[in-house]
Order: sequence, then C-alpha cells, then structure tokens
Amino acid sequence: SLLDVVVNNELNIKGFGACEGTVTCSTCHVILKPEDFKKLPEEASDEERDMLDLAFGLSETSRLGCQII
Ligand code: FES
Repeated sequence: SLLDVVVNNELNIKGFGACEGTVTCSTCHVILKPEDFKKLPEEASDEERDMLDLAFGLSETSRLGCQII
C-alpha cells in the first residue's frame, strides 16, 4: 500500500498512518490527480468511505493511503 511505501522508505510525514492501516484514522488521507484516481484497480470499500468522511479537505479523488495497493 501507499502506507507501506511511506514506512519502508522512512519518509517522515508527521502523523501519517497513525492506525497503521487498520482503517481507524484518516491520517493517511491523500488527494490524487484525477488521472491517477481513475487508474486505481479498486474503489474504496464502505469501511474506507466511512473513514474518509472524517478526513479534512475531502475531495472527489480522495483515498486513504493505506488502502491504495
Ligand atoms: Fe489509518 Fe490509513 S493509516 S486509516
């Protein structure tokens, strides 16, 4: 997942991935370019959508980074 990329590369993004991918936070919220959003193989699950609703600055192309594979 995108969260794995951040962790494995020791990218220091403050607070990113606080729940470690258990879909209980929205700190991994990312806004994708529309062309990239369209390329994702799967749509957001109901669980992801529920958590996205709590994300700051939600947009049409928002996803949780820990759910992007
Ligand atoms: Fe918490 Fe993605 S890391 S929802």
